[in-house]
Amino acid sequence: MPPTELHDLRRGKYAKIDAAVDDDSPTRPSFDSNASSYEDLEEYDPLNYDAGTLKRKKSTGDLRTRKPSYKDAEIAAAGRLRQKPSRNCGPRQWCCWLLIFVAAVVLLFTAGGLWAYKKTMPKDGLSPPWYPTPKGGTDKSWEESYRKAAELVKQMTLVEKVNITTGTGWQMQMCVGNTGPVPRLKFPALCLQDGPLGLRFADNTTAFPAGITVGATWNKELMYERGKAHGKEARMKGINVILGPAMGPLGRMPAGGRNWEGFGTDPVLQGIAAAQTIKGIQEVGVIATAKHFVLNEQEHFRQAWEWGLPHAISSNIDDRTLHEIYAWPFAESIRAGVGSIMCSYNQVNSSYACQNSKLMNGILKDEMGFQGFVQSDWLAQRAGVAASLAGLDMSMPGDGLRWAAGESLWGPELTKSVLNGSVPMERLDDMVTRVVAAWYQVGQDKWPEDSGPNFSSWTYEQVGKIHEGSPSDKTTGVVNKFVEAQANHHILARKIAAEGTVLVKNEDNVLPLDRNGWKEHERADKGETKFRVGIFGEDARLSRDGINACEDQHCNDGTLASGWGSGAAAFPYLVDPLSALKRSWNDGSVYVTDWPENNLPKQKEILEDQDLCIVFANSDAGEGFQKWSDVRGDRNDLNLQKGGDKLIQDVAKGCGKGNGKVVVVIHTVGPVILESFIDLPNVKAVLIANLPGQESGNALVDVLFGAVNPSGRLPYTIGKSEDDYGPGSKIKYLPSPVDGLSPQQNFSEGLYIDYRYFDKNDIKLRYEFGYGLSYTTFHLSSLLISSHGPKTPLPVPRPSGIEPPSYSTDVPSPDTALFPEGFHKVEKYIYPYISSTSGIEKSEIKTNLLQSPLSDAGGAQGGNPDLYSPLLSVSASLTNIGTRPGDCVVQLYVSLPKNYKDPETGEAVDFPVRVLRGFEKVHVEAQKEGVIKGIKGSTHGGGGGNRELVTFELTRKDLSYWDVRRQNWVLPTEGEFEIAVGFSSRDLPLKGSW
Ligand code: BGC
Repeated sequence: MPPTELHDLRRGKYAKIDAAVDDDSPTRPSFDSNASSYEDLEEYDPLNYDAGTLKRKKSTGDLRTRKPSYKDAEIAAAGRLRQKPSRNCGPRQWCCWLLIFVAAVVLLFTAGGLWAYKKTMPKDGLSPPWYPTPKGGTDKSWEESYRKAAELVKQMTLVEKVNITTGTGWQMQMCVGNTGPVPRLKFPALCLQDGPLGLRFADNTTAFPAGITVGATWNKELMYERGKAHGKEARMKGINVILGPAMGPLGRMPAGGRNWEGFGTDPVLQGIAAAQTIKGIQEVGVIATAKHFVLNEQEHFRQAWEWGLPHAISSNIDDRTLHEIYAWPFAESIRAGVGSIMCSYNQVNSSYACQNSKLMNGILKDEMGFQGFVQSDWLAQRAGVAASLAGLDMSMPGDGLRWAAGESLWGPELTKSVLNGSVPMERLDDMVTRVVAAWYQVGQDKWPEDSGPNFSSWTYEQVGKIHEGSPSDKTTGVVNKFVEAQANHHILARKIAAEGTVLVKNEDNVLPLDRNGWKEHERADKGETKFRVGIFGEDARLSRDGINACEDQHCNDGTLASGWGSGAAAFPYLVDPLSALKRSWNDGSVYVTDWPENNLPKQKEILEDQDLCIVFANSDAGEGFQKWSDVRGDRNDLNLQKGGDKLIQDVAKGCGKGNGKVVVVIHTVGPVILESFIDLPNVKAVLIANLPGQESGNALVDVLFGAVNPSGRLPYTIGKSEDDYGPGSKIKYLPSPVDGLSPQQNFSEGLYIDYRYFDKNDIKLRYEFGYGLSYTTFHLSSLLISSHGPKTPLPVPRPSGIEPPSYSTDVPSPDTALFPEGFHKVEKYIYPYISSTSGIEKSEIKTNLLQSPLSDAGGAQGGNPDLYSPLLSVSASLTNIGTRPGDCVVQLYVSLPKNYKDPETGEAVDFPVRVLRGFEKVHVEAQKEGVIKGIKGSTHGGGGGNRELVTFELTRKDLSYWDVRRQNWVLPTEGEFEIAVGFSSRDLPLKGSW
């Protein structure tokens, strides 16, 4: 290989070979290759290495300056270290006493801390080890891709392999994550880009409604279409891997900052929406990423150092809850064939998710049969060797413990670890093969050679730096080609936003509105009087600073159409509700006044004169590396923000002197408490419009005026108070003094989150999970349950799968990994090469390891295929008994047998009152005159088009629970299952048993 070839292509096509030279390549001590077992390696935490007391640097506020940099703090800390300490106190004895006193205090605190740490070890203790990493290539549906991948990987050198596993460093190429290529074999650098609702930092792309809005549509087709459109845009921009969909956080805590990126607080809803999105993205040739695995349920303390503490929070969970709630959507994603999974920042049972062998080796790769690659969240990797052995396949963005420092835990360190035997060659081969196989699996080998990213994440200018993050490299080139990728996706964005709007209250059928003002039956009374409408609240208008004024949308200013953070995208445009509404009424008969602020004016007429008032309010949240006001990612409470409650109350009081009708529109990242106004007599209608994306105003108008009959359903419960969600639902805003080195969060409520908690404790709520109104009325009848066979407790034994590829395990000579002579390095760029071979001694790691037992629940993508065998068919008849056509979400809930005891142990097994196991969105035409009078007892067919058959298939997994002792999904064979079909988790008119 010519010396600069690898380097040249890594830097992209704009690179010049005469880049600045910086030979100061980062080195980090390799981990002890004599560790007695892989289990021990979990203990080798490089955080102990030079951690310092770095404080986070404030964001510059510059739109293109992305993540906070620790650089200044590092320099400051280093400066402090360089100051020579004085050797003794000299004659000033008090100085010695002071020192002794300080030392005593430190000792006391340390001892206290140690005591507290020991005392408060999480209930579930440490995460169990699971080794070695199962190899990819065991699933038939990936056979061809693995065959091709193996052919390619067999030809790769050690550094070429490492190059594929490690990002090149923050801001070193065009995307938020970039890997190194293997030009010799025509394997490209991969571009990884956020995120779930649109392409972050890109131009000419769509800002779709957020995940939570998609969840609220309960429309499988739209979930798939959004994924597909997102994938097509990524393809147009040269993106290989989309960093989405998000399904964790799942929403354990309603105030969780990033819940809005996912689809709602239920594993089945999340799982179906995620799988549909993944299918859409991957069908057009882009690799999807199921993120964040797992239990990153809150932003506070999610990441080491981000919150001033040396360690991230530990989410402590029991095995059953992990399986039945939080890991469930990931199993569905794997079943859909997802190419990548992102492990999360937090610890799980005291082991970082990105070096947790139980999670990655055991659950993802063995039990769930994951065939793609696991990538770390950005700096979520906290160890080198331990992470590789625990199942991490790709380090993102390549930087190690500190942002943009150019010091990787892999890159040259991985090369060394393979050379000295700490990481077996076999493991590296598997890491690389998984990445290359995913690339083949979606057909990226068919992309033309120059398909790399045609945009830069770091500037909107046409010409920009090629290595933005390199202080000394000034090379520039054309970085933005402004490729138009939006196609007609605004139509889809509008449809999703409209269907994701949930109508929760509509008294006196105040909605839909009439474009001519007075409704037909009112017109006779009102004569020529104009209908007067007032529009209130800042959330109705655009931000005065511009729609993309805040980096990653991290401020709540003007109408809320997205949460903030890496999951947000720039709006190409944003249709505000105010302009859309104003355009919608007939000027001749309607007079519209607006006050798009949250402080009402002194002049009362603006309210008193109105026949109808529409008032807007919102609640925002986002990712924890940014904050708005005092909201640091997670919300501080579940109330409306910016005085929203008072605004609505005042509007209701004043509107038409208390007689005007009030319609409330809420844009929100999740549940909000509505109690301060929901029962006010003139608050006639309330719409939860979630986060609608760029088509906000248009979609809202579609619903308000009835062009779209509302069919959104709540993807979470709206309680009467935050306390009603239970103690486990509270964000941990402060570390507890007894937490030890990292904040501890015990998921002690187990399975009982959101509606499961409300139902278990029979708590009165405002609007339940799955609830939403329509402008028409539906009726369900004729429940039919048919079983496909007898109940048997366990799935059939797991299939063995096909043979994964195998390679020579020979380790090359260290010389082959040295920087080629005359190689030009770009400062801070992460290369796979090593600078010297000194100290690299090949010592075989003691592999006296036992293979962890394979899971009986495994055997294919998503788990043992028999878990997905249909055991029950359920059908019902849905009739539209109203006068408008409409879509209805028919929901199926299962209750496992009551008072169930494990027949073998006699132990009682507790089950939630009911759990969602299926849903279908069905369009039903309006009733035609003269057809169907007596609905009850009506049968299928002959309904004049106003009746549809709805069917569900329930699988073994749907009817089982995770048995911790058997480590398998077990179906209770005694007692009765209740199967309930209806309109929400608490409105279930049809019930049957099995
Ligand atoms: C987020 C990820 C995101 C990554 C890259 C992290 O802060 O947690 O969801 O994909 O940044 O932007």
